[in-house]
Amino acid sequence: MGTGYVGLTTGACLASLGHRVTCVDVDQAKVARLAAGRVDIMEPGLAELVARGLTMRRLGFVSGAREAVREAEAVFLCVPTPMGAGGAADLRAVEAVAAEIAEVLPAGCALVTKSTVPVGTSRRIRDLLGREDLPVVSNPEFLREGTAVADFLGPDRIVVGSDDAAAARWVAGLYRDLSAPSVVTDAASAELMKYAANCFLAMKLSYVNSVAELCERLGADIDAVTEGMGYDRRIGRSFLKPGPGWGGSCLPKDTQALLRIAESARFDFGLLTAAVEENIAQRDRVIAKIAGAAGGDLSGARIGLLGLAFKAGTDDLRNSPALSIASVLCAHGAEVTAYDPAVGGELPGMTVVDDAHRVAKGADVVVVLTEWDEFRRLDWGYLAELMVGDAVVDTRNLLDPRQILGAGLSWQGIGRPRRE
Ligand code: UGA
Repeated sequence: MGTGYVGLTTGACLASLGHRVTCVDVDQAKVARLAAGRVDIMEPGLAELVARGLTMRRLGFVSGAREAVREAEAVFLCVPTPMGAGGAADLRAVEAVAAEIAEVLPAGCALVTKSTVPVGTSRRIRDLLGREDLPVVSNPEFLREGTAVADFLGPDRIVVGSDDAAAARWVAGLYRDLSAPSVVTDAASAELMKYAANCFLAMKLSYVNSVAELCERLGADIDAVTEGMGYDRRIGRSFLKPGPGWGGSCLPKDTQALLRIAESARFDFGLLTAAVEENIAQRDRVIAKIAGAAGGDLSGARIGLLGLAFKAGTDDLRNSPALSIASVLCAHGAEVTAYDPAVGGELPGMTVVDDAHRVAKGADVVVVLTEWDEFRRLDWGYLAELMVGDAVVDTRNLLDPRQILGAGLSWQGIGRPRRE
């Protein structure tokens, strides 16, 4: 149920594991496009898997949920759970689908939640279905946008939780061809696990961004600090890159949701609150850095932005720190021109261009906000000629400072010594 990036990836990947999958979506036009093999989202390998599933007749797309589930052994709920009132997850889509199919599900069919849902949702769904013969199973996904297919087929772990232990084991068995450890547990633990993992990642990043700030104040280099930290296997090497703050469709939503969950359990999760506040502080420090590079006053400053998506490899602008920074710059009266290889069209307050060089034209400051590899390969000598000022602010520590200095520009990153 649902052909967003989680649903479509899950459907296409389960089909590639040999299962027969019918993907359902309420958007009829989208269903027609997918049935013709047209994938709208930017996800490497996904279009190929969809095409193969269609050819092998293991994958189909329909818009009628009730028709699709009549013979199903499992139904995966992959509908959105956006941030609702007060930061809690909005479960209306999950509940609507469950209510729609409750009567027609065959006995014994497992109802599997893939969507990130608050602890206790499995129980709520079971009550909503009002049937004893339908096991409800939580099977959270750990897909990253941009590497969703690779993450699905090469996972670190499979997590399955249900108060019906046999159903949990059966769902875990659907993944037996993937060589990954599985954690088979109760429903509440599986549901909490997903939030605990995403929020840990958010805290790790807020921690790194704080240490990067300390590096700047103390004259240390965050690259060396995190390299040294990362070799400690208890810390691990990934998720240690400082940046303009963490964003996207998951971490901001899930941190808010877990804070609400903690609140309802009357627990003050101060550590997580601090991580969220630090993320706002990081964005504000980046804005102050850009203002400093523009001579202290953003009003009338011409700022060129490289990157708008929340991270490289995606065209997703949801909760993008880059977009949020761009809006604040505009609000302070800066003239903002932006380029992102995956983002086109119009955005309020700024000029979006289709060529990286055009952001440099007449710019006082050029800012790297998304870590697209192609920004490394730009002709920085030419960009320097187009610019009026000479400041490059690299919020992803993406560029080689020597190359920027060689072009006659100054470079400042995050948590690293400024170079001019
Ligand atoms: C995240 C999790 O990584 C997935 O495991 C999870 O399945 C997914 O949410 C989800 O809940 O569906 P995603 O939102 O695609 O995946 O993005 P990430 O790759 O985790 O990046 C999140 C943010 O952290 C981005 O803004 C990124 O730029 C930032 N980041 C990441 C850093 O600033 N530094 C890093 O070292 C890594």
